Amino acid sequence: MALYLTKREERILDGEQGETMQKCYRLLVRLGEAFGADRLIPIKSAHLSGISYSSIGDPGLEFLEDISRGARFRVETTINPCGMDLRRWRELGIEDGFARKQLRILRALKGMGARLSLTCTPYYFREPKRGEHLSWAESSAVCYANSVLGARTNREGAPSALAAAVAGVTPNFGLHRDEGRRAEVVVKVTAELKSISDYSALGYKVGKEVKGKIPFFKGLKAGRDELKALGAALAASGSVPMFHAEALTPEAERQEIGDLEKTEVDSREIRSVYEGLRGEEPEVAFLGCPHLSPEEVRGLSDRRPRMETYLCMARNLVPTHVLRLLRKAKFTVLHDTCLVVSPLSRKYKKLAVDSAKAAYYLGEKAVLMRREDLL
Ligand code: F3S
Repeated sequence: MALYLTKREERILDGEQGETMQKCYRLLVRLGEAFGADRLIPIKSAHLSGISYSSIGDPGLEFLEDISRGARFRVETTINPCGMDLRRWRELGIEDGFARKQLRILRALKGMGARLSLTCTPYYFREPKRGEHLSWAESSAVCYANSVLGARTNREGAPSALAAAVAGVTPNFGLHRDEGRRAEVVVKVTAELKSISDYSALGYKVGKEVKGKIPFFKGLKAGRDELKALGAALAASGSVPMFHAEALTPEAERQEIGDLEKTEVDSREIRSVYEGLRGEEPEVAFLGCPHLSPEEVRGLSDRRPRMETYLCMARNLVPTHVLRLLRKAKFTVLHDTCLVVSPLSRKYKKLAVDSAKAAYYLGEKAVLMRREDLL
């Protein structure tokens, strides 16, 4: 199917609105043609990843500074965590040279109109509505938006989300269409899931098995935080952009699952995920991958960490008296960043994490443990 463009869009492709807009449209049209999009559709918001200087280095910084001279975001645009806590980076030992370059990246993004949300959970600030089209590039947020909220976004890369933020449109294919959101495999969960970390282990296990297919979970009992943990791990280990969960997620009811391939996950398989991600004594713990929800933060405020523990969450998410309680209990609260994208983790040989996504990205440094066992 050919991608239909309006006369206005054709003129933009011919350069009517300048070179940067032309480049963004070119990228989106190519992407749409490659994946069978029928047209470009307006988006409500964009969320950009690839913000940390640790990940994008000088080439990324120069690219963003360059494009920021000619581009402005047309839709609400939020951004992922960067490489440091913007207020406490000095006391946490981040080098001046790193901080200077990180701040240049943020200045370029702010200049284009980004909101410096610096979180992988932008939905705690504005929750997308069911059916809303988005262009989001953080895989855990993509999975949450599609599955838990019923909004619609493909798993964008940093360049396509940036182009969509500038253009205000995205090609209509994949998860934007009903047929791209259908369940492809049924996962019966007989495992007893007691900790939020168990949901993360389930996502890790199923992601590896289904590799990009959309699972339909049967037998799950979960709240939004557990679904967030499940989706983040599914997205990390299996590039899964969405899931359905019987009686829990908005589009589950519509799924026809009778003829689908079926699989089952029991408690033994959940235990084997922990065994596979085991390691020597960790020096510190990191909770908040994805960033903690307000409810999770409140749940931690009367607990005591067993070892030095970093809690990662969006800034301005919870009232200051809750933060005070956490600090009093000797948690180290980090905003704007996380231990995966910050050079801070280089200080440690072993980190305990309660998230299989964090374990996946931290590799041999990580030890997966139940959150309850870290408190
Ligand atoms: Fe968020 Fe960092 Fe995890 S960006 S999803 S806390 S790896």
